[in-house]
Amino acid sequence: MSVAMNLTLHVWRQDGPKQEGRFETYQAKGITEHMSFLEMLDLVNEGLARDGKEPIAFDHDCREGICGSCGMMINGEAHGPWDLTTVCQLHMRQYHDGQELWIEPWRARAFPVMRDLVVDRTSFDKIIQAGGYISVRTGSAPEANAIPVPKPSADAAFDAAACIGCGACVAACPNASAMLFTAAKVAHLGWLPQGQPEREQRVLDMVAVHDEEGFGNCTNHGACQEACPKGISVDYIARLNRDLLRATLKAPRQPVATGDGAA
Ligand code: SF4
Ligand code: FES
Repeated sequence: MSVAMNLTLHVWRQDGPKQEGRFETYQAKGITEHMSFLEMLDLVNEGLARDGKEPIAFDHDCREGICGSCGMMINGEAHGPWDLTTVCQLHMRQYHDGQELWIEPWRARAFPVMRDLVVDRTSFDKIIQAGGYISVRTGSAPEANAIPVPKPSADAAFDAAACIGCGACVAACPNASAMLFTAAKVAHLGWLPQGQPEREQRVLDMVAVHDEEGFGNCTNHGACQEACPKGISVDYIARLNRDLLRATLKAPRQPVATGDGAA
C-alpha cells in the first residue's frame, strides 16, 4: 500500500513574456508514489482552480516521452533526476514526504518564457526549416530497397532521429547552446544516401540559423548529453564540426534555393 506524501513546491510563475516572474510556494498534498510528476502538478492545479487561482501553465501532450513538448528544471536538473527520462515519465516514487522542489522553465535567450513553465521553442523550428529536408522527385512511390543503406549508417541515422526536440540540452548547457539538437538533425539525414545532395548546404544553413537565433557556442561541457532524455551522443557534435569544416572550406556559401526558380 502506498503512503501519501506532502511536498512543498516553489514554482516559477510569470504572467507573460514581458512580465516579471517570481517563485510562488504551494503545498502538494496527498501525493502517491504511483503518480507521475505531471499528475502531481495536475493535482496542484485542481486545487488552485478550486480556490479561484490561475493554474500553473506547463507544456505537455503525449505524456509518453515521445512528443518532446514537456520539459522543466526540477531542483536545477533538466527533466528532473532520472537518466534518459522526460519529465512526463518521471514518477513521484523518486521523492519523499516533506521534500521541497524548485520548479522552473528552461532558461535560454532563444527560449523566451511565454507563461510560467512554458517557453517558446520556435527557434528549434527555424533550425529544422533551414535544412531538415531532402530533395526528391515526387511521383509514384519508389521501391523501398532501391537505395541500399549500410546497416551502421541506418543505425546511426535512427539514433539521431530519436531526438524529440525537447530543449533539455539547451537548458542544461552553461552556454545555452543547441549544438546537440542541431547535430542530431544534421546527422539524421547526413548519414543516409538520400541526404547527401544537400549535406554541405544543410550544415551551413542549420548552424547559421542556430547562431542567428541566439543560442551559444559549444565549449564541450557535455552537460547536454547528460540531460538528453533520448541519449543523443556528443559524438554527433564532433561529426557536425567535421561536416561544417568541410563545407566551409569547399565553397563559398550558396543562397538557399527558394523553390520557385529564382536565383
Ligand atoms: S538532443 Fe536530446 S535534449 Fe536536445 S532536444 Fe533532442 S532529445 Fe531533447
Ligand atoms: S509530454 Fe510528450 S514527451 Fe513529455
